[in-house]
Amino acid sequence: MSKILVIHGPNLNLLGQREQDIYGKTTLEEINRLLEKTAKAHRVTLEFFQSNHEGEIVDAIGQAKKHGVAAVLINPAAYTHTSVAIRDAIAAVALPAVEVHLSNIYAREDFRHTSLIAPVCRGQVSGFGVDSYVLGLQALVGLIKK
Ligand code: DQA
Repeated sequence: MSKILVIHGPNLNLLGQREQDIYGKTTLEEINRLLEKTAKAHRVTLEFFQSNHEGEIVDAIGQAKKHGVAAVLINPAAYTHTSVAIRDAIAAVALPAVEVHLSNIYAREDFRHTSLIAPVCRGQVSGFGVDSYVLGLQALVGLIKK
């Protein structure tokens, strides 16, 4: 069974309490459980990783191939807009990756309109709340089954 690494960036551990009007009431634990359901239906396995530290995310991506990961689903959160290191890590491992966001980053502050990560991903899903994750996972499953 193919394994997909799900990476949640900084402050996503606070989902459920954090700016509910923007990010909703669903906790990270609930998002992961929902993704597990989708994964089961598509016969893939998931590994979850959340970190508030850029270097830890870089390390997780760098080690992904060694750990048998076939693809990466990532919400880089604030690092979307700042991290050359995470972008380079995704480019380096050359695994199919999909970027997801709960909010529509293009409808928010100007500084959120640029993603440094999207150009090294196969695609991006932004603005559908928790469904962004599910849609992103479905897209990745389609990519790795091709
Ligand atoms: C986010 C959007 C980012 O701009 C923000 O920094 C986040 C969450 C989202 O899922 O909508 O932390 O990635």
